[in-house]
Amino acid sequence: MAERIDYTNIFKSPTLFAMKVLKVMPLRHQAQILEDESSRILIVSGRQAGKSTLLAIKALWTAFVKPSQDILIVAPTLRQSRVVYQRITDFILSSKEVKAHILKSNMEETRFDNGSYIRCLTASKTGETIRGFSATMLIFDEAGSIENDEVFSAVEPSLAVKGEQLILSGTPRGKRGYFYNNYATNDKTKRWQIYKFTSRVNPIITEDYLKEERANMTENRYLEEYEAEFIDEIGLFYPQELVAQCSEDYTYTLEREEGYKYYLGADISRAGSDETSIVIIAVPDDPIRKIRVVWAEGLKYSDITVSSREIIRKALAIGVEQVLVDAIGIGGGVYDIIQKELGSSKVTAVTLEGERRETAYTNLKIMLEKRRLILNENDTKMYHQFSSYSLKEKVGGGIRIVKSEEIHDDIVDGLVLALYGVESITKFTVFEGVNLDNDFFKNWAEQSAMQSVIKSPLNSPFYYPLDYLEK
Ligand SMILES: Nc1ncnc2c1ncn2[C@@H]1O[C@H](COP(=O)(O)OP(=O)(O)O)[C@@H](O)[C@H]1O
Ligand SMILES: [Mg+2]
Repeated sequence: MAERIDYTNIFKSPTLFAMKVLKVMPLRHQAQILEDESSRILIVSGRQAGKSTLLAIKALWTAFVKPSQDILIVAPTLRQSRVVYQRITDFILSSKEVKAHILKSNMEETRFDNGSYIRCLTASKTGETIRGFSATMLIFDEAGSIENDEVFSAVEPSLAVKGEQLILSGTPRGKRGYFYNNYATNDKTKRWQIYKFTSRVNPIITEDYLKEERANMTENRYLEEYEAEFIDEIGLFYPQELVAQCSEDYTYTLEREEGYKYYLGADISRAGSDETSIVIIAVPDDPIRKIRVVWAEGLKYSDITVSSREIIRKALAIGVEQVLVDAIGIGGGVYDIIQKELGSSKVTAVTLEGERRETAYTNLKIMLEKRRLILNENDTKMYHQFSSYSLKEKVGGGIRIVKSEEIHDDIVDGLVLALYGVESITKFTVFEGVNLDNDFFKNWAEQSAMQSVIKSPLNSPFYYPLDYLEK
């Protein structure tokens, strides 16, 4: 005979509901938040810590056991709010008990036979989409990524009438905005019940995994993404100490060495203001060894034919794999000339704009932070140019890499272009908030680990309301 479910306990405890009805074992921190009935909860954590999952369980339990609930799931983008919502509908589909009480369910909302609703919404740029909704429970996932505080002023009235719980959950994104400010001022305001934890609370996040991730992102990004630290990133993008730690004393040369491949980056000057730069890097076949800048110069002439001739001459002298030319504006003409001379497979036109631009500059920063690049300490021009780039707040929120009007940047741009040609580097991309679903837990439980865990609750990441388990 199938186990009979004791509804009294399930009605009392979302954790028990998760275990008995949804057949998921909440992690310790998830259970703690599930059981928390505070009216304002703020969750700050690293990626993959189990936030969206716990939010889904909390919303579903609330709708299932309490009548006439209006539950809104909100996130900055539709894709993000669907993460939680999809988890809710998946839980519903996998549970006969819950499914039996659903009147209607589609991509936007699910209606229960006790009069409760769960709706999934996008915050939109200004929060306009939320205004006008009223809610008993409002769950805001990825709240750290909201760049415009107006969104939150749109949230408050929707809870004004019958609000019972507001939950903001997210990964840190800089020391600014509503999410950070509420977190930072809570010692004084005491408005929120705050939970803060790193990604390690989730057993799928192993030290090996963290090490690998850390190698492929900037230090600041890593600290935010996995260690849940709010970082103040405003200021020089390539601080002088960072550049200094990669600098060595040597002389530039166009002599080819065995065991290396060469890439040339050329930033073509526009309207005679900047110089045209030529930067060549040596990329070792042995990935343990470092990439070295072997040539960097700025050409005073803005003439296309002169620039093209110099690029071709140097490319042939050292025998480059690839020439990478900035394709914006006048760069296009140079590209045509070089390509004719060197062959189209040797020349790539790169448009460093938008996300690709941020990625390329970020990759250079990663190379410097992880000491994978050697710069020439005698090249004072390049050294100085690194301070042209800084991170500034955008109007309307967010941050972006901006260049100084006073300091030239063509040589560093040339370097960025050269690095762009190296495939092993361009694989690093700016983090977009991907969600890696995986079978870890399934396998983990199946490998009977669950059994031993149940016997030693103190060492396990899982939470057991032991008095419930005994029943
Ligand atoms: N209690 C749990 N049992 C099984 N899998 C879980 C549990 N909590 C989280 N996961 C899994 O861990 C991964 C990360 O969880 P998620 O809720 O997406 O984290 P976050 O929203 O913090 O990034 C997902 O693959 C999710 O399915
Ligand atoms: Mg999430």
